[in-house]
Order: sequence, then C-alpha cells, then structure tokens
Amino acid sequence: MKGIVLAGGTATRLYPLTIVTNKHLLPIYDRPMIYYPIETLAGMGVREVMVVVGGKSVGDVVELLADGAAFGLDLTYRYQPGPLGIAHAIGLARDFVGDDAFCCVLGDNILRGPALADVAADFETGQYDAGTLLYRVPDPERFGVAELDADGRVVGFEEKPEQPKSDLIPIGVYFLRPDAFAVIDGLAPSARGEFEITDVLNHYIAGGRLFTRIYEGHWTDAGTVPSLLRAAALAAEDDAAGRLSPPAIRPLS
Ligand code: G1P
Repeated sequence: MKGIVLAGGTATRLYPLTIVTNKHLLPIYDRPMIYYPIETLAGMGVREVMVVVGGKSVGDVVELLADGAAFGLDLTYRYQPGPLGIAHAIGLARDFVGDDAFCCVLGDNILRGPALADVAADFETGQYDAGTLLYRVPDPERFGVAELDADGRVVGFEEKPEQPKSDLIPIGVYFLRPDAFAVIDGLAPSARGEFEITDVLNHYIAGGRLFTRIYEGHWTDAGTVPSLLRAAALAAEDDAAGRLSPPAIRPLS
C-alpha cells in the first residue's frame, strides 16, 4: 500500500502565522506539523509516500523531510499549483500510485491513539473500494459532516454545511484505490472552487463500497488557531504519559 500526505493550500485561517511560511512547518509541541501525518502513515506500515506540496516555503518542506530515511520511509514529491482541493491533490498522485491501494492523510491532521496498521491491512486485502475514519466533534460545520440513517449507517457527506446533520465528521484519512482517479476526473468544483474529497466519498456510499469506522484515539486538525493549540496539547499529554517518541532528525551535513 502507498501513502500520500497533502501539504498544499494557503492556510489563510492561520494568518499571520502562515503569510510567509507553509502551515505544515509550524510547530506542534516538539516537531513540525507535517511529522504527525508522516508518522501516521509510517505506523500503518506504509513505506512509499508522496508528499503533495503547494503554497509557501515548498523548498523548506522538502529540506525538512528530505528522502524520508529518518522516518524509515521512501519519500517523493509533487507540486500542486494552487489551492484546488483535496481531491485535486490526490489526482496528482495517479502515476505514483500505479495499481496499488493507497492511504491519503491530510498534512494538518493529528492522530494520537492506536496505530492503523490493521485498518490499512484490512482495506488492502478487503473488498471495499474506499474508506474513511469518523470522529465526533463539537463544531462539525467546520468539516465534512456525515448524514446517518435510522440504523446509524452513513448515507452521505456534506462539506461544511450550515446546518450539520450530525456531529460525526470524516477525518483527513482516506483509503482509496486507483479507481478513485476516474471518480476525481468526473468531479466538478464546489461553490468554494475546490474539488472536494467528500464528493469522492459520496460516490462510494451507494452499493456499500465505502467503509467507515470511528477513530478510537484522539484527533484534531490544526488549521485554525484554537485547533493548533489543541494539537499541541494532545502531543503534550502523550509526552507526559510516555507515549510520544522522540522526533526524527534527518542527518545534518
Ligand atoms: C478537509 C475536508 C473535510 C474533513 C477535514 C478533516 O477540510 O474537506 O471533509 O472533515 O479536512 O480535517 P479542510 O481542512 O480542507 O477545511
């Protein structure tokens, strides 16, 4: 299975912190933000990862992560020319993915909890065409939001609805197969001008081709000032409990 980390976008919600630098380089406790999704993929047993970069300080992202050896990974990069959305960024990884199943993790998603190796392995060898992890949040209108039927099954996702139909959101961890590229090719941009991942997920709900499961650990994004602080607090709690490994440091010349 291959991995993708998305580290593009303009991060205007964090201005002035991100006027001159890339959001994914900002510190979360003892390491740059992008370390967390990289570690999430490494914890799944993924070895080949593409980082899709865009926005500010792209060269610094490459300089920081280098070839990925410090994480036990083989990293490669692609450039996203503008904030065109998550689905568009995933579309840039088509050649890299080849015929393999893959997992895409958003560069500002912080997962603290059980490693996802079993979820990844189940997906890779299983029958589902796509999958995502759900998490309960107090402010669902900031995210994609799941709509559930009377039996608790997901029947649709809405991106940033004014009236959320639940407090369950798909976090930024997407399990997909090469089939997704045709779906992405068929998407139209949303009202905010982006190709939305929720539209890709919705495609797979019909026919029961999408798996969803609740993420059992702690999760936050880090794309706003309050969530940036919460992300650091999650890492600090883990550190105090002895659950935070030291950050990788690439060999310095
Ligand atoms: C994105 C997705 C959204 C998802 C969220 C998780 O939102 O569009 O569906 O719930 O990531 O972090 P964004 O952070 O781009 O606003």
